[in-house]
Amino acid sequence: MENTNDKKQIVFSAIQPSGTITLGNYLGAVKNWVKMQQSGEFDCIYALADLHTITVRQTPSVMRQNIINAYASILACGIDVEKSPFFIQSHNPNHAQMAWVLNCYTQFGELSRMTQFKDKSAKHADNINAGLFTYPSLMAGDILLYQADKVPVGSDQKQHIELTRDIAQRFNSIYGEVFKIPEGFIPKDGARVMSLQNPTAKMSKSDENVNACVLLTDDNDTIMRKFKRAITDSEAHVCYKEGKDGINNLMSIYSSVTGLSFEQIEHDFEGKGYGDFKVAVGEAVINELEPIRKRYEQFVKDKKYITECYTKSDELAFKISRRTMDKVMKKIGFIK
Ligand code: TYM
Repeated sequence: MENTNDKKQIVFSAIQPSGTITLGNYLGAVKNWVKMQQSGEFDCIYALADLHTITVRQTPSVMRQNIINAYASILACGIDVEKSPFFIQSHNPNHAQMAWVLNCYTQFGELSRMTQFKDKSAKHADNINAGLFTYPSLMAGDILLYQADKVPVGSDQKQHIELTRDIAQRFNSIYGEVFKIPEGFIPKDGARVMSLQNPTAKMSKSDENVNACVLLTDDNDTIMRKFKRAITDSEAHVCYKEGKDGINNLMSIYSSVTGLSFEQIEHDFEGKGYGDFKVAVGEAVINELEPIRKRYEQFVKDKKYITECYTKSDELAFKISRRTMDKVMKKIGFIK
């Protein structure tokens, strides 16, 4: 990516390196990152949102390894730093600076309404820190620094993107057109991949039941075992219907990796049991993830390559984001 002054729309997104990347992260977000980058239609900028992870207590040695592993995973999914930067958020001080500024244009009431804040504070009741509360302004800053048009994310981030738009509009109404107003880009299928063990809850790497979540690093046997054990219902009829959360989830995953419509899936599995369908979903996911896992195993060993990739990305991201940061500081009244 040379610069962001051409006519292409700008795409920005980020992921927290808080553990191994899941099938949910991949289908909900990263698959679209790769598609949007490969289409050549957009100027894409992606980040590892490591500053976001410390709202929850981290063990330093584990955190360092998680960052490397997550970086290698995203490269393995197909992100190419020759085409667009994939940088590390904490290496660019503009993010922390912008977060502080935006905190002063974000209302306490708005942050209190964030469902992710309510969920996380219930889960970590012993550590409801101010960072957990103001996390959405850090995320808003990530997006607004790059004047992004589109933000590919899963549906759990929709509320944060709406808040980002509100903050940007509020700022612009005071100081003029400083920020581009971004839009979320949420896939039709895969926007909310559910737990394989409790299909009314989102698939999440922090799930205590290992069978609930498919990881990008899982081997083929593990993936198949998890799908064979997926919780379904007692109807034994593959069709998408209200209340059939387990089957609806498996159909969404299958549709997302094969591109088949729900009608086609229902037709193909007419008269077949859930056992056959679970194996088919397992195989389709294995086909999708196996090449990624193989590339991951290569990248994760190559620290030198990873460092080269993020170093050049960090520099480019700094340059692009500084333009917005300088403009914001000037508009508010800070002096040089
Ligand atoms: P994070 O790290 O929790 O998740 C990364 C991306 O994966 C999506 N996702 C899912 N999609 C479908 N099904 C699921 N079960 C599932 N779980 C996660 C998320 O929607 C997300 O797109 N705050 C963000 C990271 C972030 C960010 C940003 C994103 C920081 N700054 C700026 C966009 C723009 C987060 O915690 O995502």
